[in-house]
Amino acid sequence: MCGIIGYNGTAQATPFLLDGLKKLEYRGYDSAGIAVSDTDGIKTEKRKGKIDALASAVRKRNDMTGTIGIGHTRWATHGAATNSNAHPHKSGKFTIVHNGIIENHKELKEKYLRLCRFDSDTDTETVAHLINRHYSGNCLEAIAQTARLLEGSFALAILCEDEPNTIFCAKKSSPLLIGVGDEASVASDISAISRKSDSLYRMDDGEIAAIHKNKVEFYDFELNEKAKSASPFTAGNNTSEKGEYEHFMLKEIFEQPEAVRKTVEAYIGADKAELLQQIKKPTGIYIVACGSAYHAGLIGRICIEKLTKTPTSVETASEFRYSDPLIDENTSVIIISQSGETADSLAALRLAKSKGAKTIAIVNVPESSIALESDFAIYTKAGAEIAVATTKAYSAQLAALYALSIHFARIWQTADSKLLNTLEQSLEQLHENIREALCLEKQMKEIAQHMQNTQHTYFIGRGIGFAVAAEASLKLKEISYIHSEAYAAGELKHGTISLIEKGTKVFAVCTPDTPEAKIQSNIDEVAARGANVIAFTSSPNIKANTTVISTTASHPLFSASTQVIPFQLLAYYTAKLRGCDIDKPRNLAKSVTVE
Ligand code: AGP
Repeated sequence: MCGIIGYNGTAQATPFLLDGLKKLEYRGYDSAGIAVSDTDGIKTEKRKGKIDALASAVRKRNDMTGTIGIGHTRWATHGAATNSNAHPHKSGKFTIVHNGIIENHKELKEKYLRLCRFDSDTDTETVAHLINRHYSGNCLEAIAQTARLLEGSFALAILCEDEPNTIFCAKKSSPLLIGVGDEASVASDISAISRKSDSLYRMDDGEIAAIHKNKVEFYDFELNEKAKSASPFTAGNNTSEKGEYEHFMLKEIFEQPEAVRKTVEAYIGADKAELLQQIKKPTGIYIVACGSAYHAGLIGRICIEKLTKTPTSVETASEFRYSDPLIDENTSVIIISQSGETADSLAALRLAKSKGAKTIAIVNVPESSIALESDFAIYTKAGAEIAVATTKAYSAQLAALYALSIHFARIWQTADSKLLNTLEQSLEQLHENIREALCLEKQMKEIAQHMQNTQHTYFIGRGIGFAVAAEASLKLKEISYIHSEAYAAGELKHGTISLIEKGTKVFAVCTPDTPEAKIQSNIDEVAARGANVIAFTSSPNIKANTTVISTTASHPLFSASTQVIPFQLLAYYTAKLRGCDIDKPRNLAKSVTVE
């Protein structure tokens, strides 16, 4: 997703902007640019491709000077990744960067900008021209008039030649944070905020900010001044370094035991009950999320239904938000999101709240939009996750869902306390089981050797095994670019088995929650048609072309947490052999803040 950075201080802005863009590049992008303002006006440099290409272009210039500036990493939505479509965009005295989608940009162009010359295919340039069109000497008025016309999502950072000491910002739906202290900075996420900040403002929807050298003013879109409180800010030690690992993804795979241990520790045990609050037993529960978080939700549904006997469904946020779901004040909606900023998940949360549901967030980023807007937030303790392909946050989400299921069962008295105590004990040692599962690294490296030229793979499983198959398939395809499908093992024979031919690779995920004989017959079905089946199981009874004996949790309900580990490693080593950009896969973003 796009990233915004801005600096207003006493040092030269360019180095801060370029460093800030590097910190935001994990969000995914295909072009980047900066603009700096000095006594000789606003100068812009922007480039398709990586930030290094931008930095070398900047180094060749001697005019990129000034102590105030803005920068942007663009993840193309309207218009291809080209130099002209890269941000910043300029119109008259204004230079702007934007994160989001202006849904009515065509109508606005038609109505207000028919005589304007456009240099790009972007919706953002429409915003720049609108601000300039409304400008008659007052920047705030021009920005407010424009903001009131825009539909969709936007986080804007704006420079004006007539106001060389101020960065203007406007926000609706897309995140924007402002750090103040010895210097001021603005960014799409906290990782790029200046370490010299001592307080942090989180802009809310419908707000405009004027960031001066040593103070920030806030307004609504009607230009009513807003008093806004800041939270204390201490720059976290930048633990997001790779250390001895070649990629963040591998580092984060091996950080999973600790991520799970900390999450379990935070929410398991009678003394932690108050953290989870008393939530009235609902008539139904929806779990809503995207991607891997959705796959975690599939496991969450199994646990919650088994322990609380409450009908629970799992929906992708992009479907849920337009399905007019049957929810009311007797429904609980659990939103799972690593970033806490995923547009579809945030919209789903807002829809659920508008219908009176009790909303619970499971998020990894404190103070993220989803965390702040939910009735109740559970924080996974995975720490900053940099690789686009999630691993430790996914595992921490599972741990949080396990803890939540046990908690609900306890307060709603829907399961035997002996069972719940056993589950808690199993959960408290889960991180050790995961650590053991990581010992499959060598075997996964070997299997990856045979994946290099694979074009199609299938992952099959039943029950928890199917939910793991879905996540395993996503991991493989999103970083190695090998086409992969996950299928409920019993469903394959209803069509897709027609694709199985000699040598087709099929991974069978066998978890102890479902009868061995059933998954064995599914393995035999595809093997009979020539498939090369690699079964992952903790049972010695399962037979396939290749059988990987993997450890499992001490309780079947938690087996997903150990079963997923070898597949993360397989995806990693396959992608490595194929020379893929593992931490920043093509077309992907760490946080999809547009719909
Ligand atoms: C998973 O590896 C991907 N990064 C993606 O599917 C991700 O899980 C999804 O976009 C949801 O992101 P969130 O958890 O930040 O909401």
